[in-house]
Amino acid sequence: MSFFNKRTKTGKDGLSVDTMTNGARLIAAAEPKSPVAEQFRTVRTNIDFAAVAKGEIKTLLISSALPSEGKSTITSNLAVVYAQQGKKVLLVDADLRRPTAAATFDLKRNSAGLTNYLGDNQKDIVDVIQHTAMENLDIITSGPIPPNPAELLGSGRMTDLVTKLKAAYDLVIFDVPPFLMVTDAQVLMAKMDGVAIVVSGGKTNKGALKRTNEILQIAEAPLLGFIYNDKNRKKKGNSGYGYGYGYGYGYGYGDTKSN
Ligand SMILES: Nc1ncnc2c1ncn2[C@@H]1O[C@H](COP(=O)(O)OP(=O)(O)OP(=O)(O)O)[C@@H](O)[C@H]1O
Ligand SMILES: [Mg+2]
Repeated sequence: MSFFNKRTKTGKDGLSVDTMTNGARLIAAAEPKSPVAEQFRTVRTNIDFAAVAKGEIKTLLISSALPSEGKSTITSNLAVVYAQQGKKVLLVDADLRRPTAAATFDLKRNSAGLTNYLGDNQKDIVDVIQHTAMENLDIITSGPIPPNPAELLGSGRMTDLVTKLKAAYDLVIFDVPPFLMVTDAQVLMAKMDGVAIVVSGGKTNKGALKRTNEILQIAEAPLLGFIYNDKNRKKKGNSGYGYGYGYGYGYGYGDTKSN
């Protein structure tokens, strides 16, 4: 499989700039019959199961403790597999620091996006929603990168926007920054119906997991479960890529089991 073969470029901060410049690999769209696409459908099914206990999930936030754990890749592919299922889906790029959705879906970023909407009371949702080439899948890109992302995401206008989007779509999925680095994700979590956390193989250490547990509780996150992204599998000689969905991933919180 060629999707992840490219060497990952890093910026001055040492973080991957791959998905910011090239977009995330939309494997679920490009190769819907591949094992990786099947894994994304499995994640979808598991999220749906986890959601049964919580009631209807119309807003879903996906975050991770640390940068580059695969949030944008998973979020965009999940949006695709939900749209393929016939759901009317909107993906919101609420990562106002390292946005990717415009590059992933080949859309305008700066003239019509989330920060354009949040910074201008005259704007309507139709001014910032962009259609993709895929049926059932719309996007709100980040807009220009603002100086105060957490403030914008925590604003009353953002709360109103979430309400409006819920009324217009079957499912609204939010891509956000890592929550141990900045507060952006935390301020949004309580506004969501469901939150899923990406845990990357070999990256998320024990200390980060403990802090994750604390932050999810403080943020009153409606936790659905954890998505295990095994980024190292290829290096170990396996041909597949691990996108699994795990419950009770070794530390206690909410519905999950502690051990
Ligand atoms: N399972 C995987 N196997 C191999 N490479 C992967 C896998 N998942 C993600 N990657 C790669 O890791 C890099 C980071 O992925 P991505 O941008 O989706 O992470 P992110 O958590 O959104 O990062 P950020 O914190 O910058 O928002 C990208 O180059 C992506 O292609
Ligand atoms: Mg990202």
